[in-house]
Amino acid sequence: MEKSIRNIIIATIAALTFSTTSFAASNSDDAITERIKPVGQVYLASDVPVVVVVEPTGPRTGEQVYKTFCTACHSTGAAGAPKTQNAADWAPRIAKGMDVLKEHALNGFNAMPARGTCMNCTDDEVVDAINYLVKGL
Ligand code: HEC
Repeated sequence: MEKSIRNIIIATIAALTFSTTSFAASNSDDAITERIKPVGQVYLASDVPVVVVVEPTGPRTGEQVYKTFCTACHSTGAAGAPKTQNAADWAPRIAKGMDVLKEHALNGFNAMPARGTCMNCTDDEVVDAINYLVKGL
């Protein structure tokens, strides 16, 4: 009789020892976080990941801006646009001075749209594009 009570005690101690061991094993921070996390996940509008479009860094050259935006009108002279690097077309405009050309290119002038439609161009990029339009003149 006494022997069987001792056996029960030993078995109980063994069981407790093993159960604590396995409890400890699954008690890492991750396991705890997983166990106590809310049942439902709530996304706030501000939690929605924002996709950032990575554009090439650094300014685009005047030629790059010209070829992307300005060429549409200035290569053909559409809507009366002075043609690219055409001395006769540009002479009277160059005579107005670079400040005026810059102001008109940035803010628009008659059928010339503001920034030549390059809305994310910096002022310097637009100026470089003007310099490309009048290059060699
Ligand atoms: C949608 C057509 C169009 C696009 C695109 C365009 N232009 Fe023009 N641009 C014109 C027209 C038309 C004129 C002539 C306006 C006038 O004299 O009435 C003009 C005139 C100009 C002038 C002369 C302004 C003046 O005071 O005489 C400059 C400088 C100029 N454009 C720069 C640019 C640059 C730089 C780009 C590209 C970033 C560009 N343009 C894109 C149509 C365009």
